[in-house]
Amino acid sequence: MQVTKRSVKNDWTLFTLENDRGMSLDVLDFGGVVTRLTVPDRHGKSENIVLAFDDIDDYKKNKPYFGALIGPVAGRIQQAMFTLGEKKINLKPSEGRHELHGGEAGYHQKLWNVESFQTDTEVGVVLQGSWNDRAYNYPGSVQVTVTYTLTNDNEWIIAYQAITDEMTPLTLTNHTYFNLTGDRTHSIAGHQVQMKSEGYLELDEELIPTGLIDSGNGGPFDFSRERLIKSGSGSGHKQNQVAGDGYDHYFLLKKGSAEQVRVKEPTSGRVLSMETTQPGVVFYTGNGLNEDFVLSDGKKAKKHSGFCLEAQGPPASLHHKGLPSIWLKPGEEYKHQTVYRFSMD
Ligand code: GAL
Repeated sequence: MQVTKRSVKNDWTLFTLENDRGMSLDVLDFGGVVTRLTVPDRHGKSENIVLAFDDIDDYKKNKPYFGALIGPVAGRIQQAMFTLGEKKINLKPSEGRHELHGGEAGYHQKLWNVESFQTDTEVGVVLQGSWNDRAYNYPGSVQVTVTYTLTNDNEWIIAYQAITDEMTPLTLTNHTYFNLTGDRTHSIAGHQVQMKSEGYLELDEELIPTGLIDSGNGGPFDFSRERLIKSGSGSGHKQNQVAGDGYDHYFLLKKGSAEQVRVKEPTSGRVLSMETTQPGVVFYTGNGLNEDFVLSDGKKAKKHSGFCLEAQGPPASLHHKGLPSIWLKPGEEYKHQTVYRFSMD
């Protein structure tokens, strides 16, 4: 177990967490970005399995949100607007007429206060920030603490905590793109995904949930048995087409079950299992990635170079009844945890 830190460009600090079993995690104080995650394959070879920029300056824009902490509201807020009691609150649109991932000044663009810690069995960093996004019309000042822990059981645990002084919508996630092959330019098409889901939110042409929950039974959205990611690209299913040839959907997860999501990559043998206290996860297959993004080995990203499992609440609940709420009230504590566990098959 070890934690080291060094200064990098822009006066940012990069923390490296290492466990005793071949895993390491690099975290930047800017945007809480995970810039590298090494995991052993079935032959014990540790390789980086996350997408990251070659040039650290690219995180100042970070259009694909590589590795970043996302907030105050992860996902899309329809028409950048919600109502609070009688009041209509208009945020600053950041993607067409909608708001995406907390807007331009979202948590992926904030410099976090970071402290590291270490015990016999785990090592980690605590990221803290007190954010007031009133300039963008978000109500309240929010105090946020996010802890990234790397354990000797090859788990990366993210614990989120927040409090507010005014009622405000809040749902946080991390936007890491995984590619379990170890070669980030290799397509994720051959990854096999299994999910304990109760349906997914149907999207309109602007990627905004329509309010309809589709059970997904029997089609490319049915992950009750192992399904190849590539069965969703070129599937001809309207929802895969809307997403830009793949998946970009919020799946409601079965509460409290073990291994809510399991992704296996047969050539390397790497397996990623996810468990979360959140009600669901956005499964995104990097449909918007392209050669504009230069990755850490100097190679260019391509469509489907990585997938994200963004465990979070659904911002669509601000506009549709019957979905889990994302409101945080003064006196309440926002508390969630997501575990990514790595093993071999
Ligand atoms: C995802 C979102 C996608 C895309 C991506 C960033 O969370 O669902 O539609 O915007 O972030 O490129």
